[in-house]
Order: sequence, then structure tokens, then C-alpha cells
Amino acid sequence: MSENSIESICEQAKVIVTCGTGGVGKTSVAAALGVYAAQHGRKVVVITIDPARRLADAIGITGELSNEPQRVSVSAPGELWVTMLDVNETFDQLVRDTSPSPQRAQEVMNNSFYRSLSRSLSGTRDYMAAERLYELHNDPRFDLVIVDTPPSRNALDFLESPERLARFLKHPIVRLLMAPSRGGMRFASAAMTPVLRAISSVVGSDALTGVANFLRAIDGMETEFSRRALAVAGVLRGDASRFVVVTAPSPDALHEADHFVSELSRLGINLRLVVTNRMPPRFGHTSEHEEREASLRSSGDISIMHSLMADLCADAELAEAGVSAFLDRTQQKFPQVGQATATELPADIHDMGSIVALAQQLAVSEPRQ
Ligand SMILES: Nc1ncnc2c1ncn2[C@@H]1O[C@H](COP(=O)(O)OP(=O)(O)OP(=O)(O)O)[C@@H](O)[C@H]1O
Ligand SMILES: [Mg+2]
Repeated sequence: MSENSIESICEQAKVIVTCGTGGVGKTSVAAALGVYAAQHGRKVVVITIDPARRLADAIGITGELSNEPQRVSVSAPGELWVTMLDVNETFDQLVRDTSPSPQRAQEVMNNSFYRSLSRSLSGTRDYMAAERLYELHNDPRFDLVIVDTPPSRNALDFLESPERLARFLKHPIVRLLMAPSRGGMRFASAAMTPVLRAISSVVGSDALTGVANFLRAIDGMETEFSRRALAVAGVLRGDASRFVVVTAPSPDALHEADHFVSELSRLGINLRLVVTNRMPPRFGHTSEHEEREASLRSSGDISIMHSLMADLCADAELAEAGVSAFLDRTQQKFPQVGQATATELPADIHDMGSIVALAQQLAVSEPRQ
């Protein structure tokens, strides 16, 4: 069994991350890999960090998913759980977990800068995705976390957010803002330093005071923030994680898939698997030309059917040529990358039955020679 086959990935990984452009089937594939891993005895949690409710729809759950994982019924020796990132809830939990007292946690959560931070900034979403991944990875209920990323070109930004946070907390200005509570100096005197005066003239002194109060309130907790951030960065870059690019055969999807392959390469992350989803069904190896000839020899309705078949064959051949060229490009960057394929199913993926069918297709798909 090759180390980048679906089977070995689902048996060995601790973390799987699916990425790719919009609509190619990332969420469906994440759920299908979850089913497949559960069928191999793993205790899997699939987390979607996309605020859309597509994961719930794909597995046929009518209610909302939340930050608390919910177990899904699947006939397998392992377990399948699903959850959806809630940024505020994750941040509040992080504050509660790391603060020295409930009062201090409350002080942080009441802070105006904290509230704007946890509600609006996209960087916070990335950081909380990484933080939630850290928690689930360490949760004894699960031995595999599968991350379904949102349809954005920047979907992999969350991979860099832990290091970004650790750098931010070490920044001299941040240290300076934290300093007053350490040295007993009042914020007002720290604010008189030229650099802070300059910042406050841009962002306003109220905003700066909010930030300073926030930093003072988290004083001591930031070491744990950094520790967790660096721990999850280590997991994501380490041997326990497997990255999967999902694509579809359309030229646009393949072009965007190239972008994700390059991003992973830039980030120094090993791409393990390419899933080509939504492929047109195969009709053997009859070429378009032969089909047209066959249709000419035929007559009546049959000839229409032959012509239709020929068109479908031509589409499939075109799709396969595009995918094949994409795989060649990918293999130049990642020579060991594994491959799996699934065809377009007759209907949308909207219940566990269709996810199981997708998992089956991925499992039996043959690597390209
Ligand atoms: N193999 C397939 N056969 C049929 N329909 C599919 C297949 N794969 C995905 N779909 C359908 O395509 C749509 C998009 O699938 P999915 O939500 O899994 O993709 P996604 O890449 O996660 O999308 P988004 O970028 O919006 O997050 C859904 O309606 C789903 O039912
Ligand atoms: Mg999705």
C-alpha cells in the first residue's frame, strides 16, 4: 500500500485538511474521507471552518452544527462526529481555559477591543480555526480530525496564523503596551512614548486604551496562547497531518487547484493526495471518431443515441486530458502525491447514503499510471 493512498492516509493521519476552489466538493470529500476512516475503525471528527451550512446538508442533518461536535450515525466500527467552527465560542473558551481566575476571564471578555477582535477580524477566524484544531487534536474522544476549508483563495491562511500570533505577542510595541501592568507604571505614562503617541494619533487614544487594557487583561495568558499556537503549527507541518487538494475537471477548477498546489509548496507543506471529483462517467475507450462512424452506419433513434454517446465520450476525454496535465504539473512539485477520483453522481450529495457512495468511489479509484 503506497503511503499516499486513501487507505494509508485514512489509517495513519491524525489531521487531514481538504482544500480547493469553490464547489469542487471539498466538504463532500471531507465527509467521505471521514466515513471511510470510520469504516477503518477511526474515531473521526470533521470540522468545517466554512461558516456556510454545507457540511450539515451534505450528511443530511437538518439542524445547525455547532462548536460542540455531534455524533452522526454511520454503520462502521469507528465513529463519525461533525462540528462547525464558532469563532466567538472558541475564543471565549480559550480565554476561560488560560485565565488565572473566572474574574479575569470575564474582564477580558468584557473588553471592547476583545469584542471587536472576536467578532470582526478575518485574522481572528484563522487563528481560532487553528486553536479549535489544537483542541480537537488533543480531545481524547477523537483520533483523527478532518478540516474542511472555506471556498477562498486564502483558505490556507489559517496555517500561518499561529506563527503570526506568536510573532505579534512578541512585538516590541505589544510588549510596551503590556509593560505598564508589569512595572506598576500607569498606561498614561507608557502612552507618552513617541511611538505610542504616533499610533494613538492614527487609531485614536480610546482605541489604543482598549487595546492596552486588553493586553493588560491577558497578561500572563499570552504565554499559553503562544504555546498552543506553536504546538498546532507543529502538528500542521508535522508528519501527523495530510493535505488533500480537491479539484473538478473544469479548466477553472484546475487552474485554481494549481494555485493551492503552489501555496502548499510555498508553505513547505507536503501535498499527499489529489482528489479529482465530479468527473464525467467513463464509457470505455471508444473514441469520438469511432462513435460518429457507428452512428452513421446506424439509423433512426439509435443514431441519435450514438451521437450523444460520442459527445459524452468526447467530454470525458477532454476532462481526462485536462486532469492528466494538472496531475503532471502537480507531480513535478510533489512526486509522491497520491490520486483518487470520483465521478459526478446522478444527484446532489445530501445524505449519508450519497457520502458513503462517494467514499466507495474514492476507495476503489485506481491511481493513474
Ligand atoms: N461527486 C459528486 N456528484 C454529484 N454532486 C456532487 C459531487 N460532489 C459534489 N457535488 C455537489 O456539488 C455541490 C458542491 O459540493 P461541496 O459543497 O462538497 O463542494 P465544496 O467544494 O465544499 O463547495 P464550497 O466551495 O461552496 O465549500 C453540492 O451541491 C454537492 O452536492
Ligand atoms: Mg464546502
